[in-house]
Amino acid sequence: MLAKDLREKFIRFFEKKGHKIVPSSSLIPDDKTVLLTSAGMQQFIPYLSGEKDVLADYNSRHLASVQKCFRTDDIDEVGDDTHHTFFEMLGNWSIGEDSKDGYFKEGAIKLALDFFINEIGLDKDRFWITIFKGGDKIPKDQESFNLWQKYGISSDRIKEFGSKDNFWGPTAKVGPCGPCSEIHYDRGEEYGCKDPLCGPNCVKCKRFVELWNLVFMEYMLTDDGSYIKLPQRNVDTGIGFERLLALLNNKDSAYETDLFIPIIKELESISKGRCQDNKKNFRIIADHIRGAVFLTADGVFPSNVESGYILRRIIRRAVRFGRIINMPYNFLIPLAVKVIENYNKEHPELMRKKTDILTLIQNEEEKFEKTLERGLKEFKSQIKNSKSKLISSKLAFNLYQSYGFPFELTKELAEEEGFKIDEESFKQELKKHQEISRKGAERKFGGIGKEADSYEAVKLHTATHLLHQALRDILGKDIRQMGSDITSERLRFDFSYPQKMTEEQIKKVEDIVNQKIKEGLKVDKKEMPFKEALDWGALAFFKEKYPQNVSVYSIGSFSKEVCAGPHVERTSELGDFKIIKEESSSKGVRRIRAVLK
Ligand code: ALA
Repeated sequence: MLAKDLREKFIRFFEKKGHKIVPSSSLIPDDKTVLLTSAGMQQFIPYLSGEKDVLADYNSRHLASVQKCFRTDDIDEVGDDTHHTFFEMLGNWSIGEDSKDGYFKEGAIKLALDFFINEIGLDKDRFWITIFKGGDKIPKDQESFNLWQKYGISSDRIKEFGSKDNFWGPTAKVGPCGPCSEIHYDRGEEYGCKDPLCGPNCVKCKRFVELWNLVFMEYMLTDDGSYIKLPQRNVDTGIGFERLLALLNNKDSAYETDLFIPIIKELESISKGRCQDNKKNFRIIADHIRGAVFLTADGVFPSNVESGYILRRIIRRAVRFGRIINMPYNFLIPLAVKVIENYNKEHPELMRKKTDILTLIQNEEEKFEKTLERGLKEFKSQIKNSKSKLISSKLAFNLYQSYGFPFELTKELAEEEGFKIDEESFKQELKKHQEISRKGAERKFGGIGKEADSYEAVKLHTATHLLHQALRDILGKDIRQMGSDITSERLRFDFSYPQKMTEEQIKKVEDIVNQKIKEGLKVDKKEMPFKEALDWGALAFFKEKYPQNVSVYSIGSFSKEVCAGPHVERTSELGDFKIIKEESSSKGVRRIRAVLK
């Protein structure tokens, strides 16, 4: 079965059962307390907790989706048959069971069995079920046990587990959660181990595949660590799409399905057919490039913080695994193109943002390829001379700072060489240097940084906004701010654009900026939630880096931009605007230097 057919079957089934189909939300959640969307329920949290009315927004209590998800907990295991960073989750929800048309445990169990058995033809005799055995604060889920039996699963194939396996959520520190029940699939003895206790959740073998998690959300974990009952009961379910697809195709792994085959084939061709020896590295690279494409498409930009750091980590990890098997430079781009082509139908945002995605990934790849080899040399020479089996925090920090090695990468290298590494002392070392990067960060947020906080710099800052809008007017809406640096003498503005600007274009941009200066437009500041700012059409730099509430500076009706300021009051204060240089900054990124006279 092809991936698209399975997605389609799932959607059609739940639509037929009266569910409203909701599109996948972004990998960057609205909830700022979590970095990335890690489950289908993320976009529905306000409804699950009872804070928002699901009927008002969806006109249905019953929802289903195919959600883009990202998890890094098991990144070390990516490359085996079943682990991925990015994945898709098929899910259905019943929100607010107490209403007359809602369903809770029984409805969820019936739907799950119906879909698996009648819709996609799985063999019920291979199902094993797990239920919550109860803990200190929450009782055993006997009701689910009884229901599974009622619907034909014999009691010897229903196993109890504790909260690690059978209590789900919350995704953040607080939030809705509850006991869960899972359907596992027995692939047969030939996949098993000899342990007499072998069964679902066996850690020694891959005989049992966990397919569907049904969460019965009745609780809310609060700040003080207590569980309170939610005002309503909900069902939240999730199927690991990759796993199910592999199973339905009689494959051990999703890497052998149409989700990955085009990417692996491209890897084979780039590496001239060395797949057999490098299966694991190929899989890691394929997983990470897929994840990187989806993260950049949702507005994540490689950086040293938060989701930007996750993106940086997986791109750099892919580059490193490529280096080990002698992949040529710039090998990630043709792979990213394959991901975009392969997923474009379900996720048209990929093709729409193709230029951005490729530019960002290529920049990051090139940046790291330049330093990786030297960093590895440094690492090797240091450990050769080391008497202890401990990586010093100085070395880890130096690799991070000078060679761009994410801490986790150094940790992996250390472990491969039988060395230990202390994350705490690395963090302290990092903290020492934070004051310096704070200033840089201020600039990235769109402010101009304290060191340049003169009236001249303020004027250049307002000019930067005019320039940004003028560039969009002349070169098209796809150009994207990639960096900005202001001193009291000049502005420097980086933006994505694939070719050199013509003299005519430069002149036109200058003319527009000077025209707007002449018009003496008023500069206004408004505070608002970030999302509203975007809806209002304000330009923003990189989505994930902004606080929840932002200020938006508008210049007449010409420009609107999320920004920390400061700015002049009227554009007439600026004087004459002149572009003094237009050059390449890196591949796909142009750099303009300009002054005011
Ligand atoms: N939210 C549940 C999970 O992610 C369904 O497994």
